[in-house]
Amino acid sequence: MAANVNWTARHGLLTAERYCAASSRSRVTVFELTLCQKRFAHLRRGGSFSKKQQTRQYSTTAADSPISPSSSVSPSEVSHFSRLASSWWDPHGPSRLLHLMNPLRHDFIKSCLQSSWTEEKDKKYTYLDIGCGGGIFASSAARLPHTSHVTAIDPTPDVIAVAKSHARCDPALSSTEKLDYRNCVIEDLPAPEDDAQKYDIITVFEVLEHIDSPSSFLSTALQHLKLGGWLIGSTISRHPIAYVTTKLIAEAPLIGVVPRGTHDWNKYINPSELSKYFESGQAPGMWGDFVTQGVVYLPAVGWKVVQGSEDFGNYFFGVQKVD
Ligand SMILES: C[S@@+](CC[C@H](N)C(=O)[O-])C[C@H]1O[C@@H](n2cnc3c(N)ncnc32)[C@H](O)[C@@H]1O
Repeated sequence: MAANVNWTARHGLLTAERYCAASSRSRVTVFELTLCQKRFAHLRRGGSFSKKQQTRQYSTTAADSPISPSSSVSPSEVSHFSRLASSWWDPHGPSRLLHLMNPLRHDFIKSCLQSSWTEEKDKKYTYLDIGCGGGIFASSAARLPHTSHVTAIDPTPDVIAVAKSHARCDPALSSTEKLDYRNCVIEDLPAPEDDAQKYDIITVFEVLEHIDSPSSFLSTALQHLKLGGWLIGSTISRHPIAYVTTKLIAEAPLIGVVPRGTHDWNKYINPSELSKYFESGQAPGMWGDFVTQGVVYLPAVGWKVVQGSEDFGNYFFGVQKVD
């Protein structure tokens, strides 16, 4: 296991370097969220996230899990991602699509930031990367010159161990204190006492579709966002086409590009449902326009921005806290 982690860490270094180089020239992208079937039916009827729906109790038997009884983390998700931990940094392994998507994440963030903070050209940003996994995005963000600090958290102990191991092998990261990995859930982060303890950018890439209570999760996460800051993420629309592409094809035996059981179509969230969360006043604070960008994975080509595809597949979203 240790040898495997070191091997993947070395390959991850190369991959991270390619990301940083590619992020300056590639175009924007996409992501994912979560709801159970009942909530979707409820939303279809014109309902909204309710307090009752937001609260789901669970327990875990994992001795080393940081999950507290009030957390919305599903133990089955933790088990699933634990199994993927050792191959996380293999650019040809099960997390290949996350690696390929990373440059587009940076481009999407850049496009969001360009529409704000225009008066602060040399601004350095703090990030909170929630559900960071093995650190594909967090480490690439920490290497950017306009990043002052990245706090990256994940409830799965094995993936955080891989993320830390990878960072230790990267001279650009191990020699700075810009990157802080923590094995915890968002509910465990101390509530910020003032704006200085909050973050400029909160990222949730490919995470919302793994969460049972997305509105509760987001409401907790948004307490950590500065005024003027951005929530940026990616998830998948709950459209029949997405079921075919992300479940039947992407997880198919032999030809699949995503480990079987990674996704639950019922947990996907449509852009309209997410934007309603912000526009209806459920999200704490006041919010700017909810922006999205659809992305499509083409075998042998990679991820491509396809405007309009956010309604039936993967998409990026971003929203700025304005008050
Ligand atoms: C598909 S991976 C994405 C990892 C990373 N964001 C990326 O895109 O490279 C989903 C991650 O979400 C984490 N996760 C699952 N449930 C979570 C929750 N309730 N809160 C935060 N992270 C969660 C998993 O442990 C896993 O590492």
